[in-house]
Amino acid sequence: VNFRLTTAALTERLDDLLSDEERLGVALSDQPKTIVSDFSAPNVAKPMHVGHIRSTIIGDSLTRIARFLGHRVIADNHIGDWGTQFGMILWGWKNLLDEVALETDPIPELLRVYREVNALTKEDESLRDVCKAELVSLQKGDAENLAIWERCIELSKLGLQKIYDRLNVSFDYWLGESYYNDQLAPLVDDLIANGIAEESEGAICVFFRDDEKLADKPALIRKSDGGFLYATTDLATIDYRISALGADAIWYVVGAPQQLHFDQIFSISAKRGQTADLQFIAFGSILGKDRKMLRTRSGETVQLADVLAEAVDRAKLIIEVKNPELPETEKNEIAEVIGIGSVKYAELSQFRMTDYIFDWDTMLSLKGNTAPYLLNAYVRTRAIFRKLGTPFVKDGTIVLTEEAEKDLLLKLAQFAEIVPMVLVDFRPNALAAYLYEVATTYHKFWEACPVLREEGDVRNTRLAICELTGRVLRCGLGLLGIRTTERM
Ligand code: ARG
Repeated sequence: VNFRLTTAALTERLDDLLSDEERLGVALSDQPKTIVSDFSAPNVAKPMHVGHIRSTIIGDSLTRIARFLGHRVIADNHIGDWGTQFGMILWGWKNLLDEVALETDPIPELLRVYREVNALTKEDESLRDVCKAELVSLQKGDAENLAIWERCIELSKLGLQKIYDRLNVSFDYWLGESYYNDQLAPLVDDLIANGIAEESEGAICVFFRDDEKLADKPALIRKSDGGFLYATTDLATIDYRISALGADAIWYVVGAPQQLHFDQIFSISAKRGQTADLQFIAFGSILGKDRKMLRTRSGETVQLADVLAEAVDRAKLIIEVKNPELPETEKNEIAEVIGIGSVKYAELSQFRMTDYIFDWDTMLSLKGNTAPYLLNAYVRTRAIFRKLGTPFVKDGTIVLTEEAEKDLLLKLAQFAEIVPMVLVDFRPNALAAYLYEVATTYHKFWEACPVLREEGDVRNTRLAICELTGRVLRCGLGLLGIRTTERM
């Protein structure tokens, strides 16, 4: 089917979009839901590495988009605050801790302790048992160990919060694994009573005998020593989210290696008759330039905080070269927007299942599908009004004379379709790709259509198109969690 849009239809659309400053044509969902979005969720006192960056950035963007579409979204940071790492941490805290270092900068110190004990246990088997005993005593409620654990969580949260502030990411709750401790025993009893779980060699398991995919992969929910597992906690978490938070849907933004875990708990949830829509939103790995898992030069996992700091430093260097006369504070602000935005955009412009290569030069480049390129397009739309000396006011009649105007307008009108599409299969990269097209189309318009040199309705129409382009870019980048800057 061939069809053409009349100029009149486009004109009318531009008019509508200009008066819809907040939503830019994007309709609210006609079926608003309560969604719990589970993302980031690092493990306390263990390094928060670049793998967590994917979860944090994708999860935050999906949360923003769903909210924009009118859903009630509860962002919950399900931190790993009750894992086996605490055996090592407790022993390390008692034997290796440098109090001064802990006071000055807790996260690196906790990490150092964790790494050191981890290395020691590799050589010394008896130390492994000692650490295990520390963990058991914590789990039994030993006062000293509980106090250390609490302090450890508190310090770690402060450190994490700094990273989230820098990323402009926030959560409604931080209900970590430990929050569900008391619910685990009754939950397992309930599963047994309902014939969903059964004993197997002293442990309690759920079998999926009639499920082809999971037939030979039972889920362990209580070990023979009475200990509970990751799956048990997640089942208790589903209960809480449905009954206390009223979730219609739960979104888990977690790396692809956890596929089996989520297949299992989703299947158990279904066996229990729960109808909430559970979505595993998986993602691949971040690779170094050598196409292997990203590591530091010394071979350690790359720290998220370091990545963000380096991104901003690199952006600052570029600004120093390109725009040395800007005042220092402004340079710093712009470097923050560009640096953080570049890391986020590098992530969000890829399909989440792709293993992408982390490359500073590409992500900070002004050319190509990058944050600096999009931010630059936005800055151009703003520069016009700075030159004009007044903000945009709707004025006169719209007259579309050039193809480049119509092409751009058509692109801008598609924003309304793209945004809801992202949630169909959780692809923020569809929005990123769209914004990139807006920027390139704007670039063509910019070359073909002078604005301030024109007069009357032609000029007003072009100003209106610039304004609308700026609004779409700002709103769209905002939905990706990327801030804009007026100059760069
Ligand atoms: N803490 C886990 C990890 O770092 C992720 C938790 C994801 N959320 C969940 N409900 N299981 O691998």
